[in-house]
Amino acid sequence: MKADSLKIAVGVCGASGICVGLKALEILAELNAELFICFSGAAKNVLRQEENSDYEAFQKSFSKKYPSAKFYDESDFSAPIASGSFYFDAMLVCPMSMKTLGAVANGIASNLISRAADVALKERRRLVAVPRETPLALSHLKNMCELSRAGAVVMPPCPSFYTKPKTAADIVENIALRAVSALGLRPANQKQWGI
Ligand SMILES: Cc1cc2nc3c(=O)[nH]c(=O)nc-3n(C[C@H](O)[C@H](O)[C@H](O)COP(=O)(O)O)c2cc1C
Repeated sequence: MKADSLKIAVGVCGASGICVGLKALEILAELNAELFICFSGAAKNVLRQEENSDYEAFQKSFSKKYPSAKFYDESDFSAPIASGSFYFDAMLVCPMSMKTLGAVANGIASNLISRAADVALKERRRLVAVPRETPLALSHLKNMCELSRAGAVVMPPCPSFYTKPKTAADIVENIALRAVSALGLRPANQKQWGI
């Protein structure tokens, strides 16, 4: 798929590893994908806790660098990505909390992230979920099975060490690149085994 013609919805939840979501946003924007972004309220809190970053400041600097990116509030059910009649190509939820995992797996569209993910599933568009929790409760595992059965790609943020990462940033980038390529895009700098 050619990135500069793609519309990608991105949900960022309040799970640990928000840096992976931020890196994925940057990779997608650099690939010229048109981004429709929604941070949950909990994600804004985790952004503060893990990145010492204020959501409004992040939004402002990201929009300045990538003016085509659009941000929506989690309560904004009038956003284009809330409707199947608006064509977006694929959706990434990264990181995905166990709360949002449970909502999407059970068709509970309680905010814009779970609604847009619901739209992706019902319209048979690609949904890539990066659920983050450890250890996993039975309910988490069951919800991941349901999501996979519904057609989503379920990829917990597991690092691969055969790429010989030297820094935490290398690990974060590798996971984000894998998530972006699971959307059907081909980031140029992704290391591939055997190549
Ligand atoms: C610093 C921090 C880290 C968290 N990490 C996780 C996590 O890794 N996985 C998870 O499911 N919830 C985590 N939570 C709890 C979620 O934020 C909480 O369940 C929230 O309701 C999720 O809402 P959302 O899915 O709308 O983002 C964390 C909360 C905080 C404050």
